Amino acid sequence: MAENRETIYICRCEEVTREEIEQAIRDGATTIAGVKKRTHAGMGLCQGRTCRKLIANMLACSRDPANILPSTFRPPVRTVRIDEIAQGDEE
Ligand code: FES
Repeated sequence: MAENRETIYICRCEEVTREEIEQAIRDGATTIAGVKKRTHAGMGLCQGRTCRKLIANMLACSRDPANILPSTFRPPVRTVRIDEIAQGDEE
């Protein structure tokens, strides 16, 4: 997609624009997962923590909010030092 001054990124991790989200909804996405499959929004480093609510709002504006299903997501991964793994779980 050609960028211009009015390009609005909804998912900054995956660089998915508002227009791409709107196109996914026009193409039939009815859930956050549907938008995610079509655009990869929500699959970036933050795993949707930033963009999930924005996508839900866009879906709510396009259809009945009662039909929006909650999304599934994995929490962000944190780095673990190898010596922590070697010491085992002490908690
Ligand atoms: S902003 Fe969408 S995955 Fe991070």
